[in-house]
Parts: sequence; C-alpha cells; structure tokens
Amino acid sequence: MSHATPSPLTMAARGPLTGHVRVPGDKSISHRSLMLSALAVGESMVEGLLEGEDVLATAAAMRAMGAQIERGSDGVWRIHGVGVGGLLQPATALDMGNSGTSTRLLMGLVTSHAITATFIGDASLSKRPMGRVIDPLSTMGADITASPGGRLPLMLRGIVPAVPITYTLPVASAQVKSAILLAGLNTPGITRVIEPVPTRDHSERMLAGFGAQLTVEESAEGRVISIHGEAELKPQAITVPGDPSSAAFWMVAASIVPGSDIVIENVGLNPTRAGLVTALRLMGADITEQDARTVGGEPVADLRVRHAALSAIEVPAELAPSMIDEYPALFVAAAYAQGTTIARGAEELRVKESDRITAMATALTACGVTCSEYEDGLAVTGTGGDPIPGGGRVETHLDHRIAMSMAVAALNARAPITLDDAGPVATSYPTFFATLDALAPIEQAA
Ligand code: S3P
Repeated sequence: MSHATPSPLTMAARGPLTGHVRVPGDKSISHRSLMLSALAVGESMVEGLLEGEDVLATAAAMRAMGAQIERGSDGVWRIHGVGVGGLLQPATALDMGNSGTSTRLLMGLVTSHAITATFIGDASLSKRPMGRVIDPLSTMGADITASPGGRLPLMLRGIVPAVPITYTLPVASAQVKSAILLAGLNTPGITRVIEPVPTRDHSERMLAGFGAQLTVEESAEGRVISIHGEAELKPQAITVPGDPSSAAFWMVAASIVPGSDIVIENVGLNPTRAGLVTALRLMGADITEQDARTVGGEPVADLRVRHAALSAIEVPAELAPSMIDEYPALFVAAAYAQGTTIARGAEELRVKESDRITAMATALTACGVTCSEYEDGLAVTGTGGDPIPGGGRVETHLDHRIAMSMAVAALNARAPITLDDAGPVATSYPTFFATLDALAPIEQAA
C-alpha cells in the first residue's frame, strides 16, 4: 500500500473543462459504512463505496478482525458483520497505508474489544500525531504502546469492559470524536463527546442509522454527543454520496480555466463538509446547485460550475472545520484570484498527510506564485485570472491532495508543472487523471 516507486508526472495547461462528471464515493462515509457494517449482525450492502487505497485499508483490517467483506460484480459491497463486541484478534499487523481515518477510528473500535492490534502505516502516516486519540482511549482503558512522539507503529490492547468517559475535544477533529464514539459502542453506560466546534457528523448520522442509541444536544460548551454502549447494530443498505472533497478539484479547475462549464453530479453537501462552496462563492465563483436531494441520509446535489473572475478574500476562520481538506484546492483558486487571499485559523493543516501549509506554499512558490506562511495559515497573491508562471517541480510528500491541487494549478499555467509523484492520488481518487482527460482532453491543449 505504500508507493515504493514514485510516478512523476508533467502537467501542461489545457482548454476548458466541459461536460458531466460523477465523483467517487465519499471517503469518510465509505470508511464508516465498512466499519459499522462489520459490527452489525447480518448482511449489509454498500453501493458507491470509494474504492481508493485508504478505504481498502479499512476493508482489509475489518476482514482481519473477522468480518466477511466482498465486492460483487455489480459493484455493490456485501458485508457480514460480527456483531458489536465480536471483533477477533488479527493474526498480523493492521497496515493502514496512508490513512489517518482508518487508524484513528479503528483504534477506537479495538479499545473496547479484548484483542490486541498493531497498527503500521507508510512514511507519511508514521509522522502523524496519534496522541490525540491515545489520550482519551487510554482513559477508557486501552493499553497503548506507541513509537516516540505518540506515532505509528503502535500496539493497542483493548479491554472489556472499557470505561465510559465524557470528553471535551481539545482539537476540532471528527476522527477523535469518532474514535471515542466507536469505542463507546461496546462500552457499558454512556460515552459522551463534547465538541466546542462542530466537525463532520457522518459518524453520528450513520450510528443512528444502524440503530445505535445516540443523542446530540447543543449546550453552552458545544455539541454534546452521547452514545449508549453495548449497542446492537442492524444491517443496512447504504448508498454513499459523492465526495465533496473530490468535487473540490473540479470546482476550482472549472473556476480558473476560461470557457469551462461543467456539472459535477451527486456531490455530498452535508453542511459540516460544504465550506469550500461557501468560500469559492465569496470569491465570486459561479456555482449553482441543481436537483437537491437526500442520498444515504446525507444532502446531495449536482453542482454546475462555470469559469468566473475570482477575487481574493479573507477566508472566514469558522469555515475551517467544514473545508479542512479543501484548503490546498482553495489556495490554487487564490493563485488565480485578484488580490491576496488570507486563510488563518487552519493550523490543523500542518498535521494532515503532509504539512499542507508548507507543502502548498513551497509548491506554489516554485510555480511563480507569491505566498507567505503563517503558523496557522497562508496568504496567496493571485494573478487576477491570468495564467500563473508554472514551470516548477512540486514535491507531493505522499499527499494525494497536494498532488491533485497542483495538477489543477497546471491547467492554466504558462509552463508545465511536474509532480514528483502522482501515485498518492490513488488513496482517495484513483480515477482522477482519467476524469481530467474526459473533462479537458489533452488534444485541446492550448
Ligand atoms: C476525517 C476527518 C478529518 C479529515 C479527514 C477525514 C474523517 O480529519 O481531514 O480527511 O473521516 O473523520 P480530522 O479529524 O483530523 O480533522
């Protein structure tokens, strides 16, 4: 699951993006659909699952702990769960590849089972902080031995019964929230998470959908999410909506390449995920929602995006949790906007698959764009819609979103941009380059 051999790729500018695109299934929802199906009693079916490396790492781990997971020739995934409390001792280490979501959520699940699991990952994942989940899960009774700095590889010994806790999130993180709620599934009593700043709520929605007793209340301290433990989950038929984080690249690409006019179908627009749409509209992007509907308990619409003249903004810091994965794409939009866009309050970007503040600042600077870093964000000065110089060689640092963002940046650059490794796109969007070729065929190159 690691990219031993880098695949460099040089991207030149192209003509307008036109036509329809259907983005792959939401990564966050795909992980959760496999995990909860694997804990239900009976057969669940999942349609539209993201078949990227991160989600496949979750599938492999759930199989290693006893679930039966098969992909039918119809593309539907069928999962026979083991029941809450029924996870089995994995025979070998769980290879999480590049996936922080798999790691942190599965650490939660293992915490309240009487099994021991070793978590390993690639060079990027092995640098990421796990202390944020180690702390609360240890309080619930997990015995965790991590590598120095609270990193992978780590070994986690779960416990039955685990101890229910009430935990206020010190960082706005849906992964930490979800790890605790998943640990709470097999913990007697009520486990509570208080989030002062709301983060993506897919776990809450899906746990309730599977029949867990879960309540969400607003309080002076923030949202209080309570889960009753020793739950019984009922199998479900799930349709995974399209991933707004994948749609982000096409929203920005169509906005910056003159003449573009596309429809991105089936985009999940859960308000805890839709911050980029708000930010791009503040910049003047032309994005209209069509056919708003509900898919798998989540709001979804088709988005028509046309090229537009973008203006710099100060990105409202309160949007950060709802667009945390979209900042690299936003910085590319900013590089083509009129004026200097300033994004602050986004320090979490430093602990993603790469340090996304430094990675994007370095990549854009190498392509002739003026950037300046803050500890918690970035300022990017745009061209006012003209091509950026381009011509740089970009280090992607095993980070899929850096690779895709800089591929988009190249689409209206004066000189081609080289990615040192395009391989990481497979973690979340294996068909990214094929889709780009369909929207903006190379023959149309300017
Ligand atoms: C995710 C939560 C976010 C996000 C990640 C997926 C999830 O991470 O960046 O890509 O599925 O819960 P944090 O919880 O670290 O903010």
